[in-house]
This record gives sequence, structure tokens and C-alpha cells, in this order.
Amino acid sequence: MNVLLTGGMGYLGSHTALSLLEQEHEVTILDNLSNSNPSVLQCIESISSKQLNFVRGDVLDTALVKNTINQFKIDAVIHLAGLKAVGESVLNPHQYYKNNVQGAISLLDAMLSCNIGSLVFSSSATVYGAPQYLPINEEHPTNPYNPYGNSKLFIEQILIDIARSNKDWTIVNLRYFNPVGSHISGLIGDNPNGIPNNLMPYINQVAANQRPFLNVFGGDYETPDGTGIRDYIHVEDLSEAHLAALNWIDDPDKNRDINMNTFNIGTGVGYSVLDIIHAYEQINGLKIPYKITARREGDIAACYANPTKANTILGWKTSRTLEDMCGSAWNFQKNK
Ligand code: WQD
Repeated sequence: MNVLLTGGMGYLGSHTALSLLEQEHEVTILDNLSNSNPSVLQCIESISSKQLNFVRGDVLDTALVKNTINQFKIDAVIHLAGLKAVGESVLNPHQYYKNNVQGAISLLDAMLSCNIGSLVFSSSATVYGAPQYLPINEEHPTNPYNPYGNSKLFIEQILIDIARSNKDWTIVNLRYFNPVGSHISGLIGDNPNGIPNNLMPYINQVAANQRPFLNVFGGDYETPDGTGIRDYIHVEDLSEAHLAALNWIDDPDKNRDINMNTFNIGTGVGYSVLDIIHAYEQINGLKIPYKITARREGDIAACYANPTKANTILGWKTSRTLEDMCGSAWNFQKNK
């Protein structure tokens, strides 16, 4: 398929581009480079030994999106472009609703006018809010507690209504848990600008002596070791879920009764912050100094997926281990 990958120069986007190229898809990336580096394009091409199309621009530019779809004869879109920092979204909600929600509507405008209706959407487990039960399945109530999570849920609802109104659309909605790790080559990975919000890139910078120690946000949660538990998923497993989603969309046996489906994309296993630190130290032969500090505003004790639906309907499941996640993360950091 000719796939338009919005946000394809970012952390997940670059890994997804690689997975698509490996499966012989034609890839066109649209990215405004607001949170990514232009050098990623060469990395993708050198790893894959394949060419791909790159358009620098924003999904908010509907005319540009339309031209890109027509120019590259796009027949499916994977929409990853968007802002994703929870804390930032609390401080600047307007920016999140404009970029994420208005950006999605602009993309949908372009798709509708170009008569393409195959879409994979990058959503997040943040839409669930504080878990009412664990592991979390897709039927768990959605109750986000920050503008980032709200923006993802608003877009999900728009997609539900579009799918319901027009059977020509086929939409897959992927709710990611916690992506970590890097491509085995060590050439691409999680490389956020500024001080990392997320755990693994911060640990990487401690390992590289760019930070003196890790702040462990809270040691008094109701968890076995008192630190927060999350469902960490290797970014390459996550990327492969997008291929499985495209296959579901493109399934010739289309006589199923639904044209939109939502899946939790996680391993189903929760690890604590201290589990991550210990695994990272062990697989990389490093010491990660840390201090237990106060809880981070808005954090929850534990969150991990029930991935059964994606396993059975998409035929997708994770294969990489915690050691793969921690080893590949450090391998990328070393190469930077
Ligand atoms: C993980 C654990 C922290 C940093 C967020 C978004 C989610 C998704 C992934 C986009 C928690 C602890 C962290 C640190 C720490 N993003 N921690 N010290 O908050 O689970 O999820 O990122 O889709 O939508 O909500 O990920 O990596 O920030 O935190 O102790 O310096 O690590 O308290 O327990 P989170 P995270």
C-alpha cells in the first residue's frame, strides 16, 4: 500500500516507517520536525536501504495534506503526528486541542476530499485515566485526567462517528501503553528535546552522565516495591502493531460487520520503576544512581494492558523482552 505516515520522523514514526518499508509498503512521511531531527530520514533510508518520500509540513495545512495524498497516490494513512507530553498539556491545553484535535480534523478533511478512508490512529492508554481494574481491556471506562488524554479521546469519538456515518471508511484505533527501547541498529530511538518527561530517556541520560541521578517519583504507592508500575512495550513491537492494523484494514474478507476497531497495544506485564532500573543496570553493566522523591502530580500507581483483543483479532503480540528494551535503549544512547 502507499501509506502516508504523519509524524513519521518522530520516535514511534521512524520505527513504524522502517516496519512499513520492510513489508514493501511505499512510505510518505509528513512531518513538521517540531519534535524530530531531519537526520532521521537518512537513518531510515540507510537502515532499510530503501527510498521514501518526505514532505516537511503540518497536518493543520489541509491543502498540503491533500496535495501530498494526490501526489503520492496515498491509499492509507497512519496518523501519529501530535503533541504527547502530559505535563505540557496541563499548562497549555489550547496548543494540545489545536495540534491534536484540529490537526486530526484537517487530516480527515483532506482524506474525505481525496476519497480515501483507510486510517490507523495513534491513541494512548491515557484515555483510561485512573484504572478501575487491572489489567485494562478495551471495555474499561475512559476517563482521561489531562488535556492530552482528552484530545486523544475526542479524536477517537470523531472517528467513531465518521465510521458509523460512512461504511467506506475502515479505521483502527491503537491505544499505546509505554513505548521504550530503540531499533536494533542503534541509529534511531527516543531522543526528546530538553529534559525528558519519560522514564527511559531520562535513565539513558543518567547512564550517559548527562544527569547526576534519576528522581524516582514516589516510593509509597500501593505496589510491591512502592514505585509506579507501567506496561512498557518495545517500540519495534509497537511499530509492528501498525502493520497488523493495516492488514486488518486491507483484509479481503471485508464482510465483517464493523469498520472501526480499538485495540490496547501493550505486553500485558507491568514493571515498576525499580524493576526498570535493575534490569537496565543488569543488562548494560551500569549503575543508575537514583533518589526516591515526591510523587509526580497526576501519576497513578499502576497501569498495564490486557492485550488479548489485539492478539486474537490482529494476530499481533509482543516478542521483545525487558532486556531487549533496556539494552536497545542504552545502545541508542551510546551511539548518539
Ligand atoms: C513512567 C513511570 C513515573 C520519569 C506517559 C504518558 C503516556 C505515554 C507515555 C504518550 C511512572 C516514573 C518517570 C522520571 C520516574 N505518552 N518516572 N522518574 O507517565 O506512564 O505515561 O508517557 O503516549 O500517554 O502519560 O510514562 O515514562 O513519564 O513514567 O520515576 O524521571 O516512571 O512516575 O511511574 P507515563 P513516564
